[in-house]
Amino acid sequence: MPVATTLKQRSDYTHKYNITSGRHGWLRLTPAYSIKVVEEILALYPDATRVLDPFCGTGTTALCSINRKLSAATTDINPFLIWFTTAKTRNYSKTSVEVTRNACRQILKDLGHKFPVVSPPPIHNIERWWSEASLKFLCEVKGAINNIPLGDEECRDLLNIAFCRTLIKLSNAAFNHQSMSFKDGNEELDLEIDRDAIFTCDIEHILASADEFISETANVYLHDARKLNPQILGSFDLVITSPPYANRMSYIRELRPYMYWLGYLKEAREAGELDWQAIGGTWGIATSRLKDWTACKNYTNEHLSDIVLTISRTENKHAETLSRYVHKYCEDIYEHLVSLTTTLKKGARVHYIIGNSTFYGNLVKVEEIYADMMREVGFDDINIRAIRKRNSKKELVEFDVSAIW
Ligand SMILES: C[S@@+](CC[C@H](N)C(=O)[O-])C[C@H]1O[C@@H](n2cnc3c(N)ncnc32)[C@H](O)[C@@H]1O
Repeated sequence: MPVATTLKQRSDYTHKYNITSGRHGWLRLTPAYSIKVVEEILALYPDATRVLDPFCGTGTTALCSINRKLSAATTDINPFLIWFTTAKTRNYSKTSVEVTRNACRQILKDLGHKFPVVSPPPIHNIERWWSEASLKFLCEVKGAINNIPLGDEECRDLLNIAFCRTLIKLSNAAFNHQSMSFKDGNEELDLEIDRDAIFTCDIEHILASADEFISETANVYLHDARKLNPQILGSFDLVITSPPYANRMSYIRELRPYMYWLGYLKEAREAGELDWQAIGGTWGIATSRLKDWTACKNYTNEHLSDIVLTISRTENKHAETLSRYVHKYCEDIYEHLVSLTTTLKKGARVHYIIGNSTFYGNLVKVEEIYADMMREVGFDDINIRAIRKRNSKKELVEFDVSAIW
């Protein structure tokens, strides 16, 4: 089997996404349809001036906005995504691009003898993620990236982003929605992989769009969206965001290979702690903490009360925990919406791209809950628009819930 085909199969991590080009495609984490949705909404508001995305993720809204010469701010609770979006939305000079290209050449030329080598990160069962040869290569490249002298630290960010692409390409992991599997390594094939070429290709992919000039800046903040601070953020006339869904997806879990290699996670406990701080997080310690969580009842709604009760009465040992999960999710989003209003100009438009979810066959109509919360917080002209079906389950739909402040 040709190596290229195998590598394509290996990067199942991103199989569900239609991968995009340019800076949006730097980490192969941004689905093409997300960009399209943001672009379409931006096009509706030619007079908008300042755009906010309180749930930054990979920075899609921020990048689309500054590409249209709008000023943008974005916040996220995950420091890795803040680092990545900052790097993705800044300007790089032609010199920085050349310095990075030369650094890549030097790293590969001197690999294993000139630069210190890092230890593998403490990822559980790391040998299932990477073959011995790939792990050795990654430890050598990361050690070199950390230590190579560069006049310009921004070049190190570009090297690290390429490194993130390479580590996923070399991995045996296949991510599905809530489960992950590992392919068995094929020793014969492992010998054939040209790792230097993969890293070089990833560097070139990033450098191809790194020096595109962006005339506006994005302000990227490590910030909890439940506590938005207008003194820091300023005020906005447009919000386009895709918050976490109430579907138990953990961004920390999905991003852990990057976060461990780049030092944003040093041990498993930190991952659970971060997930507990995130809205909708439910990985490791975050799940056990739900058992002690009690609602503060800052928000109630008939559908929410019914669904929380129905889920809790399901015959399943996790039913009570999941019922609290949905309830906490809604209380967190309500807290976020209340704090969002402190950053809005009168007449500001908000668009929340949000998916519904099911628990034990019970549909949580998240879009209706968002619309109701918006009403309660004081928004007008609330509108729910179905955008697309999420997968083969016909009841799982993505919506744009919009309103005017
Ligand atoms: C659906 S993703 C956003 C995807 C994004 N549109 C993109 O372009 O990748 C939701 C994001 O919300 C972030 N998040 C979760 N809880 C948060 C909180 N309390 N404050 C700020 N961000 C939070 C997660 O870290 C995640 O990056």
